Amino acid sequence: GSPDTVTPTGLETGLPPTANSQQGAFLTTAQGARLRDTDHSLKAGPRGPILLQDHHFREKITHFDHERIPERVVHARGTGAHGTFTGYGTADEVTRAGFLAKDKETQVFVRFSTVLGSRGSADSVRDTRGFATKFYTDEGTFDLVGNNIPVFFIQDAIKFPDIIHAAKPHPDREIPQAQSAHDTFWDFVSLHTEAQHHTIWNMSDRGIPRSYRTMEGFGVHTFRLVNAAGETTLAKFHWKPKLGVHSLEWEEAQMLAGLDPDFHRRDLYDAIEAGAFPEWELGLQLFPDTPDETFGGIDLLDPTKIVPEELAPVQPVGRLVLNRTPTNFFAETEQVAFHLGNLVPGIDVTNDPLLQGRLFSYLDTQLTRLAGPNFPQIPINRPHAPVNDMLRDGFHQQAVHGGVAPYRPNSLDGGNPFEAGDAQQAFLDVPVTVTEAPKIRANPVSFDDHYSQVRLFWQSMSPIEKEHIVRAYTFELGKCYEQTIKERQLQCLANVDPVLCEQVATGLGLPAPEPTQALAEVTPSPVLSQIGEQWPSD
Ligand code: HEM
Repeated sequence: GSPDTVTPTGLETGLPPTANSQQGAFLTTAQGARLRDTDHSLKAGPRGPILLQDHHFREKITHFDHERIPERVVHARGTGAHGTFTGYGTADEVTRAGFLAKDKETQVFVRFSTVLGSRGSADSVRDTRGFATKFYTDEGTFDLVGNNIPVFFIQDAIKFPDIIHAAKPHPDREIPQAQSAHDTFWDFVSLHTEAQHHTIWNMSDRGIPRSYRTMEGFGVHTFRLVNAAGETTLAKFHWKPKLGVHSLEWEEAQMLAGLDPDFHRRDLYDAIEAGAFPEWELGLQLFPDTPDETFGGIDLLDPTKIVPEELAPVQPVGRLVLNRTPTNFFAETEQVAFHLGNLVPGIDVTNDPLLQGRLFSYLDTQLTRLAGPNFPQIPINRPHAPVNDMLRDGFHQQAVHGGVAPYRPNSLDGGNPFEAGDAQQAFLDVPVTVTEAPKIRANPVSFDDHYSQVRLFWQSMSPIEKEHIVRAYTFELGKCYEQTIKERQLQCLANVDPVLCEQVATGLGLPAPEPTQALAEVTPSPVLSQIGEQWPSD
């Protein structure tokens, strides 16, 4: 083995990184040579052309020319904060993840985002919000890359480019930037009825959060937890905000997009600077790991479905406090790289086909966005656990690796740290049985129910929330140019609820169609309504 440890840089203590931290007493070039003048280029006389030999000019301008990196292909607009996560120890029976142990404190970095707007877009648009958390645990970095909506538009990751192409700005006009209010988005969701559940959440008040501090977060997928005895439990992750869930009014959201496009960014920064540290509780919904991977008739591998909290209560397992703003937006918020494959012992994945595809996508996109394979060495991405990975070289290599034998086993570099390690500490891929089935491009039949939970959501809303949903559909669909798309979406709403369909149709001045299938019998869930939802004060 080769000693390979990359040392922390100071970000975790709030100090700027030690490497080239621009703290010298005098202005210098990037190479450290003292400067006399950085305000005038070197010219052939005061009225003459700039000389090619002006190496200071060229260094300064060249670096500036390359200041921008590509924005994220989705979730480009975001803001971040540092914080501390404290475990309650209540998850010990189901997972051996050390950061959930009682009173264990772990540093975290959270990035909140919108999904569809570009880096410079407004915060208050109707959209899903990202809620991505990096836990710098002693056992390696764990990333919980979630959203503020507990379901997703699609069931298979191979459809992700399609939904994003439909929801991003029109290829010809490059308008608008919100996911709704254009023909391609409504074309997609009315043709892919599995998207109706996520869409109704977007059309509800959840689509316009008042603040990042008042958002829930969801891991969406079902994960597989493993305890110290090797026993497994299926689980969904939930973040519950201490301040409760609150939204903007649509009129407020629209005005803010003009008056203060940085509203959410400012709110988070100001709150933390003022010492009003935002808090969330992390909770788990737990399900027995049965061979069919269902609970209460719900397929746990279908990311368009929730499990109602009445059936599986959310059990608190720890608390998150965001208590420090970034020192440098680019270095931290822009360069942070989340990845679902960043797992720790005690937390493993399931075969949810959306989750499986995401396991490929994040690392792949970051190879381009952060220019090569060494972005885990960027300070914000460095694990706080010791690293010895045998990875070498590559663009932007920052480490000077010692040792001559980055392979194992070897007889040159002092043996084999892999075998010397305590096997109990290592990540275990749970040896789940992979059924003997033919290779096939298809979903399980259980993924075919696209309407019952949309109806459950609608039925769970209070009258004012229903009114907001109707107004949102009417406003957004009213922006479509193509009448056939409005009609197809109304057909989808007819399969959700006749009142919803009728009211939106009236708003659009179109006839309300009849449902094409029987309406599901649902028991409304008060938990889905935002009204009155509050964390008990302590
Ligand atoms: C970025 C969540 C589905 C590809 C993100 C981010 C979040 C997120 C929170 C922003 C991370 C940050 O703040 O830097 C989710 C959730 C999903 C989902 C909750 C469904 C449950 C997918 C799928 C794919 C995908 C299916 C592709 C197959 C990406 C990519 C980025 C991203 C490429 C940009 C990452 C980067 O540039 O660093 N996602 N996503 N996502 N997501 Fe997803």
